[in-house]
Amino acid sequence: MPSARLELPGCTLIEDAPLVARNTLRVAARSAWLAEVHDAAALPDLLARPALRALPLLTLGDGSNVLFTADWPGLIVQLRDAGIAQLGEGDGRVHVRVGAGASWDAWVRWTLARDLAGLENLILIPGTVGAAPIQNIGAYGVEVATFIEQVEAWDHRVGAWVELSAAACGFGYRDSCFKRDPERWIIRAVRFALPRQAPLCLDYAGIREELAAMGVADPRAVHVAEAVLRLRTRKLPDPAQIGNAGSFFKNPEVDATQAAALRVRCPNLPQWSVPGGRIKLAAAWLIEQAGCKGLRRGDAGMSDRHALVLVNHGQASGAELWALAQHVRARVRDAFGVDLEPEPRVLP
Ligand code: EPU
Repeated sequence: MPSARLELPGCTLIEDAPLVARNTLRVAARSAWLAEVHDAAALPDLLARPALRALPLLTLGDGSNVLFTADWPGLIVQLRDAGIAQLGEGDGRVHVRVGAGASWDAWVRWTLARDLAGLENLILIPGTVGAAPIQNIGAYGVEVATFIEQVEAWDHRVGAWVELSAAACGFGYRDSCFKRDPERWIIRAVRFALPRQAPLCLDYAGIREELAAMGVADPRAVHVAEAVLRLRTRKLPDPAQIGNAGSFFKNPEVDATQAAALRVRCPNLPQWSVPGGRIKLAAAWLIEQAGCKGLRRGDAGMSDRHALVLVNHGQASGAELWALAQHVRARVRDAFGVDLEPEPRVLP
């Protein structure tokens, strides 16, 4: 049966909406309601509608960091404003406001085309600009939080638009206040401050080697972006080719005692210190050594290219993907005594 569509001022409301094209794991779940919001000003009236206001609320960007284990019983909101506006320049930094619906990768390329620095290591990350602060996206030694000045959001608890400073966003490793309290916030726009010149971050494994292979001795931001693009394309499965949501698990943290014991048992396990005295471990290594890289049950699998990536080979349901993820988690726990936490949002 086709879904019912209702055109409202500033947004399109769809009842019983199919989600298969709206999540990069390609799970064929449905949502009771879905609103495509073209003008954020329409949001308060939309959320106040009697049919919608008591429902569980989920904000979705491109669905590149979410696993639907069942149909969504509430309302999904997708903000579509993709406008980019330069606000001014000062202290050697350029201030830019970007609508939540802009593609993250398109935004990074916009900055590179204008010789702005900072986001080059974050090229090719799937998803929207509005989703970037939620889990403080990061790659190749850079986290987006470093360049965020302010986030404009609807505070659903208070019922008002607010502007949160970077400090108020409470950023951490793949974490923020938005991730800790997801029903409270709908991000409308992100304001960035980008330097004209910034020290390049080249220390992450592989970048210098890639630049050398490209024959670049004196790199600029565009060269680093090209190196990261090549590394990602080689290492990570492309969501356009095979359903996935990037890293499915976070790199786990353990205390120094457990890290030391693991170092004796597994000298090749990559470990690095994080502030607070704890030690982070490479989840991909643990998964591969537990024998789960390339594992497949039906259409649910772990990528054979990168052990950390859960993939949908075709028709896997969300429940099947989640069952496989839990199986991998149990295998790693049994082999190494380390508990892995999912990185994407697992719903419901
Ligand atoms: N490794 C394996 N087997 C594999 C892949 C990796 O043993 O199949 C080991 C290697 O020893 C490697 C180590 O794991 O040295 C770390 O791997 P990698 O450099 O690929 O980084 P990662 O920690 O697995 C993180 C992010 C990625 C990001 C890369 C590059 C997390 C959870 N993931 O992966 O982010 O692209 O670093 O910076 O922090 C994402 O969040 O969706 C994502 C893809």
